[in-house]
Amino acid sequence: MRQGQSLRMKQNLVVLGAQWGDEGKGKLVDYLAGEADYVVRFQGGHNAGHTICFDGKTFKLNIVPSGILRPHVTAVIAGGTVVACDHLLEEIKGLEDAGIDLSGRLWVSDTAPLVLPLHAELDALREGASGTDALGTTKLGIGPAYEDKVGRRALRFGDLIEGRVLREKLARIALHHNPLRRALGAPPVDLEALNENLQTWRALLKDYAVRVPERLYAAARKGKRILFEGGQGAMLDIDHGTFPYVTSSNTVGASAAVSCGLPFADTGKILAIVKAYTTRVGAGPFPTELSDGVGRHLAQKGLEIGTTTGRARRCGWLDVALLKRSVQFAGADSMAITKLDVLDGLEALKIATAYTIDGRRYESLPAWVDEATDVQPVYETMAGWSGSCANLRRWDDLPEQARAYLKRIEALCGVPLALVSTGPDRAATFATRPDVFVG
Ligand code: GDP
Ligand code: IMO
Ligand code: MG
Repeated sequence: MRQGQSLRMKQNLVVLGAQWGDEGKGKLVDYLAGEADYVVRFQGGHNAGHTICFDGKTFKLNIVPSGILRPHVTAVIAGGTVVACDHLLEEIKGLEDAGIDLSGRLWVSDTAPLVLPLHAELDALREGASGTDALGTTKLGIGPAYEDKVGRRALRFGDLIEGRVLREKLARIALHHNPLRRALGAPPVDLEALNENLQTWRALLKDYAVRVPERLYAAARKGKRILFEGGQGAMLDIDHGTFPYVTSSNTVGASAAVSCGLPFADTGKILAIVKAYTTRVGAGPFPTELSDGVGRHLAQKGLEIGTTTGRARRCGWLDVALLKRSVQFAGADSMAITKLDVLDGLEALKIATAYTIDGRRYESLPAWVDEATDVQPVYETMAGWSGSCANLRRWDDLPEQARAYLKRIEALCGVPLALVSTGPDRAATFATRPDVFVG
């Protein structure tokens, strides 16, 4: 049953993170994209950072969908994302320099709001002004860009194609931002410089603009395979995550249909990516965080350094009390467990199954967890293994204790385990069931 099955993607699939990001979504999307026609990034922006390795090469991606490394795939940046044109241009250049042909294969939705330099400035100013209350954002302007979207004053990618970037739109942005900037000690928005930027971006990017909902709707009707790629993770979801220590978009599976303007049924099944332990970048509650030798083992062996900001990721034991909820609200039909090999060499493994908070037992994190002073995980302990899982590709080849660990996670989460990842390389991946994506 659980041999190294070859993969069958029978329908569309949403791939998302079940923890606080960096679960290995990019690696898995690249792997699964072998079977897809379109790979669509549906939320977030260049705050995401993915490392993808195959054939001895390593790629780092932020906003460009991870399917771009498969030559047959069309990579789509959907309307629910926020797009920083200057960053997108850099990423395009990096890919072209690496020999990736992008012609006609990268689409950007004309409804995607832009992340402007003034958004990154505001993000950094606020983080700087917040002192110890800082959220630990990427300071890339993602939150402020989403604020301007909801405030209905954002410039959108389509404004670059229209050819008349409207002075009125820029004036509305300045009207909102100038008082904020003044309060934080920054000069007013330089409208001339912004206008110049927009003219440059228009010249270089206008051909990427596409009416994404129409094109994807037609593709879905033709039976094309669409893979929807989430950024961040379920616990960073603006509604369901550890608010306010979250990102500014909905990272759950339901977000894919909204972002792409597709019927809900077109987004298919949902695969949640779960790291075999837990990491978090930035501030916020993290009940299973470790500052001991095990924490250092995870950080060093897992190379837990943020792709986007270069910050050290906080590391800790797997938190299934958290996962059990996140796979539910993210809508997961199945899950993939990554970085199993990082646990090689640990004598015992702990899994958090509940918490005590200020002396009282909780089965899941309460909404007010950011205010709790004493959050203790309730652990169960399992045996580690003496061999190595690194680069193994068959269920039966895994050490017995590793299989027991995976089965225990599957049982506790109540979601079938579809895929296992045992190394950074595309090839270090295997499916546990042949029928996994059809439920
Ligand atoms: P993402 O943001 O979810 O795409 O994840 P990141 O790419 O930011 O972080 C995951 C890191 O772990 C990357 O450096 C990957 O190359 C690496 N990685 C992914 N899967 C595995 C695995 O199974 N084992 C090991 N050792 N590394 C992995
Ligand atoms: P991928 O897709 C991990 C975190 C930031 C911060 C919080 C808010 O690589 O998994 P933001 O800049 O989004 O306003 O910051 O969210 N964060 C991530 N953490 N992986 C990511 O993306 C993240 N994107 C944002 O560190 O705590
Ligand atoms: Mg990442």
